[in-house]
Amino acid sequence: MRVPIIAGNWKMHTTMYEAEKLVRDMMDVLDKIEGVEKVLCPPFISLAAIGNLLKDSSIKLGAQNMYFEAKGAYTGEISPLMLREWCQFVILGHSERRCYFAETEQMINKKIKSALENDLKPILCVGERLEENEAGRTEEIIAKQINQDLSSIKPTCNMVIAYEPVWAIGTGKAASGEQAAATIKFIRSMLTKLWSEDIAQDLRILYGGSVTSSNIAEFISQPDIDGALVGGASLKAEEFLGIVNQTAIIKGISPSSERYNP
Ligand code: PGA
Repeated sequence: MRVPIIAGNWKMHTTMYEAEKLVRDMMDVLDKIEGVEKVLCPPFISLAAIGNLLKDSSIKLGAQNMYFEAKGAYTGEISPLMLREWCQFVILGHSERRCYFAETEQMINKKIKSALENDLKPILCVGERLEENEAGRTEEIIAKQINQDLSSIKPTCNMVIAYEPVWAIGTGKAASGEQAAATIKFIRSMLTKLWSEDIAQDLRILYGGSVTSSNIAEFISQPDIDGALVGGASLKAEEFLGIVNQTAIIKGISPSSERYNP
C-alpha cells in the first residue's frame, strides 16, 4: 500500500521568523493527522530552526535543492551531509531549477544518486512545458526526463516522483484529475520497464501545479495519484491543513478520529 504524501514547497518565501510562525500556526493540528506523510520544504536558512520545532512530531522536513558533492570548494552550495542532519527528503529537478538555473538531466541524475547514497529521499520533479503539451509531446518529454534522470540508478522505492506540468505551476491553471492520472499512469509504466513491476507499484507519484484545498479532492480521488507537491497553497496554514486533511479522508488509510475540521 502506498502511503500518500503531501509536501509543501515554500520556494523562496519566508524569513526565518515567518517560517517559524507558519509552522507554529499549523504544527499541532498537522501533527495529529494520520495516514498521510507530511513534509515541509522551507528555505535552507530555516531548516535548523524548523527541525528543532518539529523534533518530536510526525512532520518531516525536506530541502528544495542540494549539490551532489559531499563537501569541497563549491561556494554557496549545500551538500547532502549538511541536509541529512535535518531532512528526510530533498526536492530535485524542479522546473524552476531547470529553467532559471540551467540544471541539466545529467546534473539532476548526479544529485539523485548522491541523495540516495546519503539517505535522503529525492522528490524528483518532471513535467512538460505548455508548447510541448499543446504539441502532444507530453509522454515523449516525460520519458526523456525519467530515462536520463534515473539513468544507472539502482531500483529503489526510497524516492518519490512528482509530475508537475510546467504550465500548471503557479498559474492557477491546474491540470484536471484525469489528465494528471493519465500521465502518472504513464510514469508508472515507464518504471515497470526501467526497474520492475513491484517497484512501479510501490513508488509514490504525486501531482503538483496549482493545487489548493478546493481542487485537491479531484487529484487525490484518482487511485494512481499518491499525493501532491504544493507550492503557493502551502504558505497558508489553513489551506495546507485543508489539503492534508482531505487527503487523509479520501485515501482513508487511517481512522479519522483527530482530523482537522475547518
Ligand atoms: P504551485 O507550485 O502549487 O504554486 O503551483 C507547485 C510547485 O512548484 O511545486
